Amino acid sequence: MLTIYKNSLSLQLDGPEESEFNFMWLRDNCQCEDCLHPVTRERTLITSDIPENISPIASNVADGKLSIMWNDQQHQSNYNFEWLIQQNKQQSQNSNFDDPAVGELKLWDKSLEDNIPTFDYKQLTNDDSILLAWCEAIRDIGLTIVRGAPTKKGEIERFAEHVGCVRETIYDRLHDVNADPNAYNVAQTSLELKPHTDMPNYNNPPGVQMFHFIKNEAKGGISTAVDGYHVAKLLKDHDPEAYKVLSETAVPFRIYSDKGDIVSSNPLLTLDTDGKLKVFRFSNQVAQPLSLSNTKMNEFYHAYRLLGKLIEDPNNMVQFRLNTGDMMATNNLRVMHGRTSYDINSGSRHLQLSYMDYDDVLSRIRMIKKASL
Ligand SMILES: [Fe+2]
Repeated sequence: MLTIYKNSLSLQLDGPEESEFNFMWLRDNCQCEDCLHPVTRERTLITSDIPENISPIASNVADGKLSIMWNDQQHQSNYNFEWLIQQNKQQSQNSNFDDPAVGELKLWDKSLEDNIPTFDYKQLTNDDSILLAWCEAIRDIGLTIVRGAPTKKGEIERFAEHVGCVRETIYDRLHDVNADPNAYNVAQTSLELKPHTDMPNYNNPPGVQMFHFIKNEAKGGISTAVDGYHVAKLLKDHDPEAYKVLSETAVPFRIYSDKGDIVSSNPLLTLDTDGKLKVFRFSNQVAQPLSLSNTKMNEFYHAYRLLGKLIEDPNNMVQFRLNTGDMMATNNLRVMHGRTSYDINSGSRHLQLSYMDYDDVLSRIRMIKKASL
């Protein structure tokens, strides 16, 4: 059963229900070799070339296929039912792509402390099913620990390359963190490091941050982490207006080095087009002075202080000790990391860090799943 409307058609695909498809969308997604490159599967049809009044001159359904001849130069399109069913499913779920890497967010608080996803280095690097679990933990929880990595320098960079690609920034590709008398940031001292996300000064901050302890013999220096999505939800539940203010006020951040000077202004809570929290930024130490009217300034500081209190609340923070050879990784678009102060005279503490983009973790999930089909 095929019904033609003014700018759409409907037909029965795999059940009694009718599925509706828009003409412009159908023409735009023609699967023929003139419109879709047969080898690369990239689109060669230019959408703006399709006439506004696009509609079928003729159409029919036969042999599991919808065929249409368009009023656009009598172009002929054929659509397999299988493909239409898949597209219809995505349209009804409001998603653009049937993505095997889609997961389920699990917000967390201090109660995660005894259940932080923890992996053995050897298993992780030798078994793709374990690597898949690690990638999924980064995606769903945003915090993982890896025990027993070699203590060779550069190991974290090799691990990043094993997963995907290293994301370079104006810090070194492989970045050393240890107490340094010429400290250029708080991380290079033995002081407490409050929970923060790294590189909020980029419009696209690195999505995954990975730490590797070459050595940790110092007393103190306990690692901390806070789920930014969780504290944002607490804020939203408690004071929706404050949440709104933080999602609409651009905050400038700046970090500079010998290699560059990166400044950008973005809301601490960057929402996606569905209004869901996408990027959580928080770094007290590299925020720059705001320029707002007095009223907006008051609103912002009210909201910022509330968020800050939630981040500092011990009920929202996990603490754990990372030893020599341990690694930790965070979803840096969501989870804040920090450490308690440590005693510089009690032993050395040297870690190396490297970044990846979050997309590379999702990519690895797709690749592992594809390979196991
Ligand atoms: Fe950091």
